[in-house]
Amino acid sequence: MPFTQRHLLGIEPLHPSEITALLDRAEHYVALNRSATKHADALQGLTQINMFFEASTRTQASFELAGKRLGADVMSMAMAQSSLKKGETLIDTALTLNAMHPDLLVVRHPSSGAVNLLAEKVNCAVLNAGDGRHEHPTQALLDALTIRRAKGRLHRLTVAICGDIAHSRVARSNLILLGKMENRVRLIGPPTLMPSGVADFGCEVHDDMRAGLEGADVVMMLRLQKERMDGAFIPSEREFFHRYGLDAEKLACAKPDAIVMHPGPMNRGVEIDGLIADDINRSVIQEQVEMGVAVRMAAMDLLAQNLRAARAV
Ligand code: NCD
Repeated sequence: MPFTQRHLLGIEPLHPSEITALLDRAEHYVALNRSATKHADALQGLTQINMFFEASTRTQASFELAGKRLGADVMSMAMAQSSLKKGETLIDTALTLNAMHPDLLVVRHPSSGAVNLLAEKVNCAVLNAGDGRHEHPTQALLDALTIRRAKGRLHRLTVAICGDIAHSRVARSNLILLGKMENRVRLIGPPTLMPSGVADFGCEVHDDMRAGLEGADVVMMLRLQKERMDGAFIPSEREFFHRYGLDAEKLACAKPDAIVMHPGPMNRGVEIDGLIADDINRSVIQEQVEMGVAVRMAAMDLLAQNLRAARAV
């Protein structure tokens, strides 16, 4: 089954074969990005608009570079200076931009569901760059590509996701993707940072990190997302590091060849020891960033193909 989506709003609607098709396409762009020229023309003549209503370093830079390497006209809106500050609604802003005939709209928004709503109002392809605590599909896809390259497969692996699960769209998208590809997922963190109804996802939940890491192939660490917390969820950062921070001693509970991942931004000494983050034998954090550009190129390439086909009929 080829990639049939009109938008990339989440991992939820994707068929496993569409995930594989996207990752296979991304491999092609990993090679291109390592070559001297780094240029292709998959988005030639198309306009990409990036609208980030929330802070971003990696994701925004990655989408911008991905569009430029594929030949699109790329515009990144400075949302802090936009008319939203004057009271315009998200939908009005979207309709205004839509009238400029964009082909790809990349949107990050603090509210879960905002990007899906926006996609209903415009006639171009919409890519979700993270909406509230809902989904962050390109992050899960770049994580999947990183895992597949490091482990040689993307099935029957034990993946431990640790830390602030409750507020994390990265955890949610990864959980869905890894489940679809038939991996075993363990969620590790204090009960205050576990979302309600987590059992419905069919994964193991641990509040003891050492037990949760036992035999894991992949250890994925998450930041404490304080911007989405309304109150105290942990006693102190020091205490959190003691119980849930990844250091060499806790990592020794995972498989000897387990890889360490983090979507960034990292808080060293809170969820991860700096020595582990920088250990080139275990950490694939820089590879994740590299895979991010390739995955976003692949996603926009496949969506543009579907857009062109739909417009041709
Ligand atoms: C993540 C996000 O924005 O959800 N970061 C990212 O996209 N690389 C995770 C986070 O903010 O902690």
